[in-house]
Amino acid sequence: MTSSSTRVALVTGANKGIGRAVARQLGALGMCVYLGARNESRGQAAERELCAEGLDARFVRLDVTDESSVALAAKRIDEEAGRLDVLVNNAGTGGPPTPPSQTSTDQVRRTFETNVFGVVTVTNAVLPLLRRSPSGRIVNVSSLLGSLAYAAERTDPTGLFPPGVFPVVLDYNTSKAALNAVTITYANELRDTGILVNAVSPGFVATDINEHRGILTPEQGARIPVLLATLGDDGPTATFVSEDGTATGLRLAW
Ligand SMILES: NC(=O)c1ccc[n+]([C@@H]2O[C@H](COP(=O)([O-])OP(=O)(O)OC[C@H]3O[C@@H](n4cnc5c(N)ncnc54)[C@H](OP(=O)(O)O)[C@@H]3O)[C@@H](O)[C@H]2O)c1
Repeated sequence: MTSSSTRVALVTGANKGIGRAVARQLGALGMCVYLGARNESRGQAAERELCAEGLDARFVRLDVTDESSVALAAKRIDEEAGRLDVLVNNAGTGGPPTPPSQTSTDQVRRTFETNVFGVVTVTNAVLPLLRRSPSGRIVNVSSLLGSLAYAAERTDPTGLFPPGVFPVVLDYNTSKAALNAVTITYANELRDTGILVNAVSPGFVATDINEHRGILTPEQGARIPVLLATLGDDGPTATFVSEDGTATGLRLAW
């Protein structure tokens, strides 16, 4: 059981990378954190690691593309905690970074299953629990590469890519653009509930997804997701915020 004053969070894809760092930072703030992971041994290893740091971290098996595992995870959180205060939709994937002409439809479909449809599945499954929170927060881990505005202009306000250069990756970029649209749509439905829904670009973070070519550590990449997961009740909804080294992050165009 969880004390009624303890805030409760669920992070998907929390067994490694940015997700594990977000879980660690939310746990360090005193939250009870459910670590969603699709693989039992990887999830349990993350749970052991965070519990050894004194955090209340609880592995829950959750494959965002498997509705029954998502439903079971939501049921367990309901039984143990009775509500959810923070949902971080972090689990994400992408195929080899290929341009549209060299990308199969199957690859696009697989990436959308996780990055877009998985977010809808998880969000809808736990929304009844979030509605019981006095201050629910949903954070969708997107990417600068999902911005239509910057892609069309081939500009990067974070300075990672030089002017005129913007990666052309069909499955990943379009899935994150769709995730941004999903973010705005939920934010608008939930405007009167107190649940704030925002998207983040964590920066270029060294993780398995980019073969550790990123320039930030996962702990640094977790900073903006955690900031949006802990917004005050007067905080924004339907925004897209990137790590840029400043205290509040950089508000991105969609
Ligand atoms: N790294 C960056 O520079 C960067 C930049 C912008 C956005 N992002 C976004 O940040 C998020 C986290 O990525 P990361 O960089 O931390 O990469 P990562 O280390 O590869 O972590 C991805 C996580 O997602 C999980 N996952 C993938 N498919 C899943 C599924 N169907 N169900 C449940 N979990 C699943 C993975 O689990 P397994 O271990 O089982 O595979 C892993 O825990 C992603 O949404 C990514 O698009 C990353």
